[in-house]
Amino acid sequence: MVGSYGRFTLSLSNFQTNKLHILHYTKHHRQLQSTMSNVVLLTATLLALLAVTFTIFKPHQTLFAPPQLPASKDLLHASRILHVTGALGPESLVFDRHGGGPYTGVADGRILKWQGDELGWTDFAVTSSNRTECVRPFAPELEHICGRPLGLKFDKKSGDLYIADAYLGLKVVGPEGGLATQVLTEAEGQPFRFTNDMDISEDEDVIYFTDSSSVFPRRQFMLVLLHGDKTGRFLKYNKATKEVTVLLRGLAFPNGVALSKDGSFVLIAETSTCKILRLWLHGPNAGEVNTFAVVPGFPDNIRRNSEGEFWVALHVKGTRFSRWITSNAWIGKALLKVGFNFKQLHSSISGWKPHATAVKLSEKGEILEVLEDSEGKKLKFISEVEEKDGKLWIASVLMPFIGIYNL
Ligand SMILES: *[C@@H]1O[C@H](CO)[C@@H](O)[C@H](O)[C@H]1NC(C)=O
Repeated sequence: MVGSYGRFTLSLSNFQTNKLHILHYTKHHRQLQSTMSNVVLLTATLLALLAVTFTIFKPHQTLFAPPQLPASKDLLHASRILHVTGALGPESLVFDRHGGGPYTGVADGRILKWQGDELGWTDFAVTSSNRTECVRPFAPELEHICGRPLGLKFDKKSGDLYIADAYLGLKVVGPEGGLATQVLTEAEGQPFRFTNDMDISEDEDVIYFTDSSSVFPRRQFMLVLLHGDKTGRFLKYNKATKEVTVLLRGLAFPNGVALSKDGSFVLIAETSTCKILRLWLHGPNAGEVNTFAVVPGFPDNIRRNSEGEFWVALHVKGTRFSRWITSNAWIGKALLKVGFNFKQLHSSISGWKPHATAVKLSEKGEILEVLEDSEGKKLKFISEVEEKDGKLWIASVLMPFIGIYNL
């Protein structure tokens, strides 16, 4: 029967101006099976409807594509690229108290130090002593053995480097580097599952840090988003008394941490909700938490500049589809059941179009500036923006390089 049901042509003309024509349904054979022709008609109608939907509503643009942001400056493609030779995923960047560095933690568990163009990157520290198998730049299945250093901060008084290792908890290493020692692995009897970022209050001698989930480890960060996981914690570690306190619990992927310039409040990026939360530490509102800012995507680390403003790196901008997924956990769980792989799931959140977006917030939470590489020409999936001496140093949890942008 193949070929005996005639021929039809579906022609879409002038796709841009929403005009659609279905043409020429021509019969070539006398004996036409009516069921077959019904199938063809139905298919043609469905195709036509789909075409109309895509032409008029542009779901591929409005649903999946990263949105264009008002007043954003598409400038970050002018960044200089600094390759992290032999490594991947420089997630956080930090300079030491003498301005040396930056230092960055990479996917194989090392912390590297940038020594300038001549020496390049040198090994500075590790968080695990069991590193015989840690030889590949990217091996997520070994992260719990090799360590995965994320947030980094120097204690300016001692020169010690504190490390939030996603698997091994809070660690510290002296100014000369080497093997980091353990500071903390749990709070209230509950082990950290996904230690992520921190800031240090020199005045209080306290470290504020996030444990992004009590269920999912870092290599399953997509599950934190897709499951609508709300088991993240925000904690405080007193260096003198060695006491750890849970300040906030039930958070939806708490991530970056930054103290305000005067130390009166601390910001926490809540990745799944696209919010920056503010917890008041001192003053009349001490202990209160509220929304400091809503950012146009999934925030990663936050860093304060010398003016007291904050740079927030967005892992990706939010699309209508990704917001729909992250605000309805059943959809994410359904997607997981279908068996999509990491790349497909990540695309469902990132909108199939890699890009880089950095948002500058005032001390009051207003969006002051949005800088982008909207086409992902140089930068994408950025995880931190560190401002120093008129330059932005831009990290990425997935790329093999950092970017340097002249302000
Ligand atoms: C060291 O790592 C290997 C896997 O690379 C593991 O089998 C072994 O148990 C680890 N040893 C210790 C002491 O953790």
